[in-house]
Amino acid sequence: MNNTSKWHYPRTELALSYLKQLEAGLNSIAIFAERRKGKTEFLRDDLGPAAKGKGLRTAYINFWERKSDPVYCITQGVRRAIESDSPRLIRKWKNEFSVKLGVFQSKTTVDASQYPEIAGEALDMLVTPKGGVLLMFDEIQHLATDPAFEELIATLRTFLDTNKKQVRAVFTGSSQDRLNKIFRRQKAAFYQGASLVEFPNMGENFIIFLLANFHDLTNRKLQKKKSLEIFAEYNYSPFLIVDLLQTMMREGIYNLDKGMAYYLDLNDPEDEWKELWESLKLIDQLVLKDIIVAGLPLYHVDTYALMRDKLGLDKVTRGIIQSSVKRLREQSVLNNEGHGQWVFESKMFKDFVSTL
Ligand SMILES: Nc1ncnc2c1ncn2[C@@H]1O[C@H](COP(=O)(O)OP(=O)(O)OP(=O)(O)O)[C@@H](O)[C@H]1O
Ligand SMILES: [Mg+2]
Repeated sequence: MNNTSKWHYPRTELALSYLKQLEAGLNSIAIFAERRKGKTEFLRDDLGPAAKGKGLRTAYINFWERKSDPVYCITQGVRRAIESDSPRLIRKWKNEFSVKLGVFQSKTTVDASQYPEIAGEALDMLVTPKGGVLLMFDEIQHLATDPAFEELIATLRTFLDTNKKQVRAVFTGSSQDRLNKIFRRQKAAFYQGASLVEFPNMGENFIIFLLANFHDLTNRKLQKKKSLEIFAEYNYSPFLIVDLLQTMMREGIYNLDKGMAYYLDLNDPEDEWKELWESLKLIDQLVLKDIIVAGLPLYHVDTYALMRDKLGLDKVTRGIIQSSVKRLREQSVLNNEGHGQWVFESKMFKDFVSTL
């Protein structure tokens, strides 16, 4: 992609391996990984271009583009796809579809999510020309946040089912629990056959690439070992290491220890976790720290007694703990791994809580 940043480390092999699985018969795959692990950048700069290289048409749809209105997100994604590669269709889009879209949206003060069929019609335009299509749905877990979106899920399901010869789909999400919820609830074709695939962390080659880039731009060398340590310490998040190197370049800092100190002074990566922690109720904090992190069983008389003492209450029941777990789940803090196993959605937040 021509607007890919110079800092983008290409993950072509991974993209090709996913495409191969789709060619081999999977209709859809679902990738989920923690926040800021590089999913979006991968879809836009690696998977999309690789699919195009194989002759597929692609559309990127992000359900966070307008959180209240997933239908809008779909129509926007389709419009961008058509604009970028189908001049013939764009005329049709402009003449017919945008008028229709306008009518739909002006019909009511309520948003277009009320009209999932319009999302279906937009997607239909994508499959009008012959040839394969790859749909990339980002932040798919968002569809599980509101029962009002269920009709849209059904529309998507019908679309994918009807066009399964021509269309492949990739779903990406950051909330494992929400994704599981959609998977479980929507047993029918939408997610049937969607295989959960792993999204591996980037490794040493990524760091080598970044350092070479830094050298290119500044003519300065940075220590590989130290860079790898920082990368690992911050949970292999590409965001932090790239942001750090860019800051160092801007500020003319050519030593990683100094750079890190400067960076942490400006932005504390833990701020986000502190804020989340402080937003939690006391009991929820205790459940996380003294039960989950400590590895105690949630539903056990000894645990109830411990909570009772910590909270200074007369009694703590199973129901109290259950409500707490439910709240933590709704806030995407905890994730149900099945068989009553509750784990942190984010390893970084778990690490943060462990240090408290
Ligand atoms: N392949 C890559 N090469 C270089 N930097 C990358 C790469 N992938 C991600 N990054 C860096 O990490 C940042 C976060 O990536 P991205 O937004 O794709 O993550 P994400 O997993 O989609 O996060 P979220 O769950 O919050 O949407 C990017 O802005 C970029 O700086
Ligand atoms: Mg993203």
